[in-house]
Amino acid sequence: MPIEAPQLHVIDHPLMAHLLTEARERRTSAQRFRHLLKQIGVLIAWEATRDLPVEPVQVETALETCQGARLVGPVTMVPILRAGLGLVEGMLDLIPHARMGHIGIYREEQSCEPHVYLEKLPLNVAAGRVLLVDPMLATGGSAAAAVKSLLRHGCREHEVRLLCLLAAPPGVQKLIREHPGVHIYAAGVDRELDSRGYILPGLGDAGDRLFGTED
Ligand code: PRP
Ligand code: URA
Repeated sequence: MPIEAPQLHVIDHPLMAHLLTEARERRTSAQRFRHLLKQIGVLIAWEATRDLPVEPVQVETALETCQGARLVGPVTMVPILRAGLGLVEGMLDLIPHARMGHIGIYREEQSCEPHVYLEKLPLNVAAGRVLLVDPMLATGGSAAAAVKSLLRHGCREHEVRLLCLLAAPPGVQKLIREHPGVHIYAAGVDRELDSRGYILPGLGDAGDRLFGTED
């Protein structure tokens, strides 16, 4: 039964489906996986920034003056380390003036409990839109811990968007239950979690695939 909620935005686009399929393939190399995540990051950011505020400006074309638009208000990108780094790279190409923060979290292997080991956020992170970035939303523990960290720094839920590659129903439900103001943008929502908290069918361990490591 597909999961539906007003906070969940699943990107339905043939290009995204094509890129996601290649990212899932276990024989895809780390180099290619990094490149795919970069491209997918741009597409997710495109969707997740549709409602960024703009102000009207006059622009002189080669022929005449017309009305254009300019982004107003800061945008902060916050990748959850490590794997968020893979998605955020392309997003920064799209919005190069974005500010950057980092939240480091690792998931305990047995319990899947998140452990926050780093919080480095811009001083005024609470001003403007925050794009929280992590390819995998599995149990939702890491994303919920990251949102709590942002709220402790003064952010408001309705300014926070979570951008991920794949989500699983338990993670979506946990995040919406604990932080109903946060909207989630995902390339796909998969069936379930296995007994170790991995997304099925999923793509494996995103951090390991990005950086060629094995836990
Ligand atoms: C992965 C992933 C998420 C988390 C998702 O990170 O990048 O942060 O697991 O799982 P959850 O929804 O159950 O919390 P991991 O802990 O493997 O760290 P890494 O990015 O350093 O590999
Ligand atoms: N983290 C990952 O990297 N992959 C999963 O499937 C679940 C958590």
